[in-house]
Formats: sequence, structure tokens, C-alpha cells
Amino acid sequence: MDVIQYEELIRQRLSQKRFAHSMNVAVESRRLAQRCGADPEKAYLAGVLHDVMKEAPPEEQLKIMEGSGIMLTDVEKGAQKLWHAMAGAVYLQKVLGITDPEVIHAVRYHTTGRENMSLLEQVVFVADFISAEREYDGVEEMRAAAQNGLEEAVLAGLVFTIQDLSQQGKPIHPDSLAAYNTMILARHGE
Ligand SMILES: [Fe+2]
Ligand SMILES: [Fe+2]
Repeated sequence: MDVIQYEELIRQRLSQKRFAHSMNVAVESRRLAQRCGADPEKAYLAGVLHDVMKEAPPEEQLKIMEGSGIMLTDVEKGAQKLWHAMAGAVYLQKVLGITDPEVIHAVRYHTTGRENMSLLEQVVFVADFISAEREYDGVEEMRAAAQNGLEEAVLAGLVFTIQDLSQQGKPIHPDSLAAYNTMILARHGE
């Protein structure tokens, strides 16, 4: 399948609103990739596909994860919002036959981040925060951070996620905390 066929698939699988979001993330990912030296076409593809499982029923998301041997941790069980990223990465491999680990990981970690993210992972993580239709409080600061550099924006995204979840009394995925800690410690070491 080429990217136009993937766009069509996403159009069919998602609501109009989330399809528009996905296309905006794809365009933003390509732009960020061009700026930071990641592969723009891979970035666009990962952006198109990143929310492929977002509107699938929870049972379907669980089923595809279980089918590929993923054992959910307690935090993951308790945070349904994370499922679509894990399930999406499996969908890319099992259903779409995508083998590129960079694209698969960019989808897999677009919600939590993780330690030592690849450039492509960072690009999609940030693009998801600043895509054209986003309007939450703080989005302009996030866009400014992205102008200053990709890492800056990843860190801002992690801080936003950790604050947002803790304020709501929700669990925080260890990958997000590890990513945050590593970046902060690297900064102190500079
Ligand atoms: Fe997502
Ligand atoms: Fe998204």
C-alpha cells in the first residue's frame, strides 16, 4: 500500500474530526522531520497512521494486543488512553504488514514517549501536541518550544503530560517518567 491508500484507510476508520487531526499530525511531522534531519516521508506516514486504533472498541484493542503477546502492566490496564498506541503498533505490523521499526515505534510511543527516543519518535510525539487544529491551554507555548528545538518540545510535552495526569489523579506511565528524568539529568550534566 502507498501513503494515499493509508490515508484512505484512516479516513474510513476514523471520524471526520480525528481524520483531520491525523492529517494535520502527518503534515506537522513532515515539517518537523525536514527541520531536524529525520526522514520526512516516514514521518508523514507515521503521522497518518498514529491514531489508527483510536476509535476501535476497547475489546478490539485488547484483543489485538493479547494476540501479539503484549502483557499489560497495571498502569497500562488502568489507562485506556494508552491502548491505542500499543494496539496501533501491532495493527501496523500484523494487518498492514509494515516492517519498518522506526515507523512502528513512532506509533507505539506517541502517547507516553520513552527514554532515548529516536528522532522520528520525537517528531511524531511533538507533532501530536501542536498539530494545526489543537486549541488547548498552553498550545502556543508548546509551538514556541518546538520552534526552539525538538528536544525542548519533547520535554515540554512530557511535563504537560505528567502535570495533566497527576492533576487528574491518574497514573503516569513509567516510560514518560523515564523519558523526563533522562532529559532533565542530561540537561544538568551539560
Ligand atoms: Fe494518539
Ligand atoms: Fe493523535
